Amino acid sequence: MNLEFSLNGHPVTVDVPVTASLLDVVRDLGLTGTKEGCRVGVCGVCSVLVDGSPVSSCLYLAPCAAGRDVWTVEGLAASRPELARRFAELEAMQCGICTPGQVVMAAAASPDPALPEPERPGKPYLDGSLCRCTGYATILQALLGVPATEVDDARR
Ligand code: FES
Ligand code: FES
Repeated sequence: MNLEFSLNGHPVTVDVPVTASLLDVVRDLGLTGTKEGCRVGVCGVCSVLVDGSPVSSCLYLAPCAAGRDVWTVEGLAASRPELARRFAELEAMQCGICTPGQVVMAAAASPDPALPEPERPGKPYLDGSLCRCTGYATILQALLGVPATEVDDARR
């Protein structure tokens, strides 16, 4: 089927099987920043934004993206460079496999950088993101965009 949607702010038309996952479609388009991990909706490394909400692209049928606004980590790196910069500056990763999904979660947690920072519910955005090789403290700091001293223990 022909699938038309917006990808990182640009209109895209691709011929895809009706059973294709959004994960496979974006990776086949060369956007390999979106990683494949568990493929069962548990690890969060495949997270992308669809109409502003994070979804596990491994479970998201590509035809459901028709007419929708999809953002991957590549698009967010260009439009919201402060998000990835926070992770780099805090060294909030070891292997980095989980980082793209967490950058997507950071965008979902603070969707409009022009607005004053709200009470950001950081931890719920990490509940669907598994990191096996580092702690979550610096990841949460990066996601919230605040210094370590401003991340209270309840959120760790
Ligand atoms: S690969 Fe999609 S949640 Fe793990
Ligand atoms: S940095 Fe390796 S799994 Fe998160």
